[in-house]
Amino acid sequence: MYSTFSSLAIVAIAATAVQAAPWTPPTNIEPQDPVVDYYISLGARPFYIVGNMTDSPLKTKLQSCENGPFKITDFAIGHRGGATLQIPEESVENAMAGARFGAGILECDTSLTADRGLVCRHSLCDLATTTNILLNETLAAKCSVPFTPATANSSASAVCCTTDITMADYLTLCSKMDGFNASAQNVADYQHGIPTWRTELYDTCATVQTLESYIDLVESLPGYRNFTPELKSGADDPVTAKYAKFPPGYTQEDYARQFAMTFINKGIDPARVWMQSFNPPDIFLWLKEFPEFGRQAVYLDESGDTPENYTAAVALLPSLKAQGVNIIAPPFNYLIMEAGPGNQSIVPAPYAIAAKAAGLDIITWTFERSGPLAGVKADDDYYYTSVADAVHTDGQLYEILDVLAQEIGIKAIFTDWAATVVYYANCMGLDGPNSADYQ
Ligand SMILES: *[C@@H]1O[C@H](CO)[C@@H](O)[C@H](O)[C@H]1NC(C)=O
Ligand SMILES: *[C@@H]1O[C@H](CO)[C@@H](O)[C@H](O)[C@H]1NC(C)=O
Ligand SMILES: *[C@@H]1O[C@H](CO)[C@@H](O)[C@H](O)[C@H]1NC(C)=O
Ligand SMILES: *[C@@H]1O[C@H](CO)[C@@H](O)[C@H](O)[C@H]1NC(C)=O
Ligand SMILES: *[C@@H]1O[C@H](CO)[C@@H](O)[C@H](O)[C@H]1NC(C)=O
Ligand SMILES: *[C@@H]1O[C@H](CO)[C@@H](O)[C@H](O)[C@H]1NC(C)=O
Repeated sequence: MYSTFSSLAIVAIAATAVQAAPWTPPTNIEPQDPVVDYYISLGARPFYIVGNMTDSPLKTKLQSCENGPFKITDFAIGHRGGATLQIPEESVENAMAGARFGAGILECDTSLTADRGLVCRHSLCDLATTTNILLNETLAAKCSVPFTPATANSSASAVCCTTDITMADYLTLCSKMDGFNASAQNVADYQHGIPTWRTELYDTCATVQTLESYIDLVESLPGYRNFTPELKSGADDPVTAKYAKFPPGYTQEDYARQFAMTFINKGIDPARVWMQSFNPPDIFLWLKEFPEFGRQAVYLDESGDTPENYTAAVALLPSLKAQGVNIIAPPFNYLIMEAGPGNQSIVPAPYAIAAKAAGLDIITWTFERSGPLAGVKADDDYYYTSVADAVHTDGQLYEILDVLAQEIGIKAIFTDWAATVVYYANCMGLDGPNSADYQ
C-alpha cells in the first residue's frame, strides 16, 4: 500500500518542515522499506496512556512495542487534520502534525464559499468560532448573524458562514481553536473559551486550507497518504441548515459533483479517496454518477442518539447495504456498551453486531476528542455515553480501542491525536481499509 519515493524528496520536505540545523537522514533505513520509520514521531502521549493501564495481557503487548518501528497506517484517520486536540482544526499545521504522527488518511471537511469555492471547514457556519473573522470589520459585516455581546440572560453569539464570503475573503483568515467566550462583551474576548484540556498555544494564525491546497499538501507529504474529504451540509448541522445560503441556482447535487470533480481534475486515483457524508443523497449520487468513489464512500450516521432512534438506526443497516453502501461510520458510542448491570466489561453493542451481520465495514469517530477520562460523565461526554460508568482512567483509552479493533473489527478510526492510534495500530499490525475490498 505504500509507494516508493526518493530520499531527495524526503530531504526537501524535511528541510521545509524543520527549521533547525541541516538535517540528514538516518543511515539505518532498509531500502525495501520506504515507509520511513524515522519520519514518524509519536511524542509522549501513547506512552503515558500505556503507563496508566492496569496490568493485563493487552498492557504487556502494548509495552512490548514501545521501541517501534512505527509506520504510517491508514487505520489512523487524522480528524480535521490529526492533531485537533491541540492545533487549530482544518489547518495546514494540524495536517502536518497528523502526518508527522503517522496518520495514513487525512481529513478535509469541505464547505462552500459564496463564489463556489471549496474550502476546508468543519461546518459551513463555524467561522466565528474557528477563525478570527470577527476581528476583520469588513468581513464581520458580511456574517449571517453579527456579533452580539452577552447579556445577563443570554450568551454572546455570532454566526458567520463560508457562504457569506468569497474565496479571496476566506484566504485572509487565520484558523484558531474552536471555541467562544460565552460571556464576551467584545469580539476580542469572544475569540477565547476552549476547554481547559485543550490549548491556545498554536493559536498563532494557523493556515487555512482549500480543498485543492489540501490535496496538494497530502500529495507533497513524505510517505504515501490517502484522503478523506467530507462534504458538509445542513444534514448534521442545524445552524448550517438555518443560515447557509448557496449561490443562486447552485444545488446540493452540484456541490456533490464539484467535490468529486476536484479530485478527478487533480488526477487523484479514486482508490485513495474515502469520501464521506452525513447526507444520504450525497452518497447515493456518488454511487450512481461516480461509482469508483461511491463504492468506498463512508456513510456517516448519527441518527441513533436516543434509545428509540438507536433501534431505528440499527434496523436500517441492511437496507443501506442493499442500496450499495459498503462502509458505515457511526460514533463509537453506538458500537460499545457495558456488559450488564454490575458488570462493567466493555463489549460490542447491537449496532456493531448488526452492521457486521449486514456485511458493512465500519469506520468510527472520534477518538481523543474528550478530556481526561477520569472526568467523563454519562450525560456530558457524547463519546462515552454508552460506557460512562465503566470509564475512569486514561489507560482505558487503549482498552476501548482494543474492543473496537479486535472484537468489532473496525477498519479505521478518526482521531484528534493520531499518535495514540498509530501506536496501537503498529503494535497490532493494522493497515486500515483496503480499496480492493470494494471493487
Ligand atoms: C491512572 O491515572 C489515574 C489518574 O487519572 C490514577 O488514579 C491511577 O492510579 C492510574 N493508574 C495506573 C495503573 O497507573
Ligand atoms: C433577564 O432575566 C431577569 C431575571 O430572570 C428578568 O427580570 C429580565 O427581564 C431579563 N431581561 C431580559 C432582557 O430578558
Ligand atoms: C479583511 O478582509 C478584507 C476583505 O477580504 C481584506 O481585503 C483584508 O485584507 C482583510 N484584513 C486583514 C487584516 O486580513
Ligand atoms: C470572557 O469575556 C469577558 C467579558 O468580555 C471577560 O471579562 C473575560 O475575561 C473573558 N474570558 C476569557 C477567557 O477571555
Ligand atoms: C428520532 O426519533 C424521533 C421520534 O421517534 C424522530 O422524530 C426523529 O426524526 C428521529 N431523529 C433522527 C435523527 O432520526
Ligand atoms: C462480564 O462480562 C464479560 C463480557 O461479557 C464476561 O466475559 C464476564 O464473565 C462477565 N463477568 C461477570 C462477573 O459476570
